[in-house]
Amino acid sequence: MKAINVGLCGVGTVGGGTATVLKRNGEEIARRAGRPIVVTMAANRDLDRARELVGEGVALTDNAMDVVNNPDIDIVVELIGGTTIAKDLVLAAIENGKHVVTANKKLIAEYGNEIFAKAQEKGVIVAFEAAVAGGIPVIKALREGLTANKIEWVAGIINGTSNFILTEMRDKGSAFADVLAEAQHLGYAEADPTFDIEGHDAAHKLTIMSAIAFGIPVQFDKAYLEGISKLEAADIKYAAELGYRIKLLGMTRRRPNGIELRVSPTLIPASRLIANVDGVMNSVLVKGDAVGATMYYGPGAGAEPTASSVIADLVDITRLHTADPEHRVPHLAFQPTAMANLPI
Ligand code: NDP
Ligand code: HSE
Repeated sequence: MKAINVGLCGVGTVGGGTATVLKRNGEEIARRAGRPIVVTMAANRDLDRARELVGEGVALTDNAMDVVNNPDIDIVVELIGGTTIAKDLVLAAIENGKHVVTANKKLIAEYGNEIFAKAQEKGVIVAFEAAVAGGIPVIKALREGLTANKIEWVAGIINGTSNFILTEMRDKGSAFADVLAEAQHLGYAEADPTFDIEGHDAAHKLTIMSAIAFGIPVQFDKAYLEGISKLEAADIKYAAELGYRIKLLGMTRRRPNGIELRVSPTLIPASRLIANVDGVMNSVLVKGDAVGATMYYGPGAGAEPTASSVIADLVDITRLHTADPEHRVPHLAFQPTAMANLPI
């Protein structure tokens, strides 16, 4: 059967992981998707590094627009990050009728409304499972598994870098700056790690989950955010002595006059499950009126865990792409509901 041609824009931590897993598990993925999913073109600034990661036989360019403008590409995967070139190339891909997969939470949280409106107009899918909580399929859980529920609240540890820092400071007495450098070395941190430690990255992810959970537009500018950069070793030590752990927690919930979005360091009793989510692991709790409280756990960052989510989106789109167009279910598209006007 004809392969789905993927154009990979950005062959760094996540792009490299995606190329590696697609090659390693290609047969199994093809069986599940119904067709082979193959990277046929990739864009990266450093072409030598890209060549090492994608292997021979993949066309390379240092201009991501070459990928977007290639008529043979079915799905564009945006893994460059930021909101400049990434935004331009995602909008151009949609304009060209291509489906898009992205791990870029900043892009979705800040420009999602514009991007999804355009995708709707053009009849293409923009999928972003990897944008929230790395390898945990939490977008799928919210959108599909819990679809029968009226969601009451969503809360969680959704930044791997800051959780890694807090864990290493607590367990090893490591210095904040040293652990942050290690998180950067391991590929967990954002290009600008301020986003991790000041709560922006967690707020981006929370904004996305909130939009899906409550059927509202993405409204990142409405989020209250506070990071971990002002925490000191003594805060963590005293919290432990009192039987608590400090976690950077994101929380969004229904309030009488709207939806609350909040990211802040939080004291949690050490006996709670979520207090024991350590290192780069993330955990998301969702309370629905029918199911009650549910909890999801897994690696929140890193090359292959994040690639796992990127490829899940590729498989979903491939299944839809091969379906009779009249019967395609636009469940991956972003669909604000009647609640869209709720004040925040
Ligand atoms: P990296 O910095 O590792 O990779 C980005 C890649 O894009 C680099 O190889 C870079 O090349 C390339 N690039 C940058 N600008 C351009 C350009 N103009 N044209 C072509 N290539 C370009 O980032 P990550 O892989 O860590 O992150 C990618 C995205 O995934 C981000 O949106 C991030 O937020 C998100 N994400 C990351 C996770 C992680 O664990 N790292 C987890 C979940 C989401 P060069 O190195 O030469 O500059
Ligand atoms: N920098 C992010 C984190 C990557 O540490 O959680 C995953 O989104």
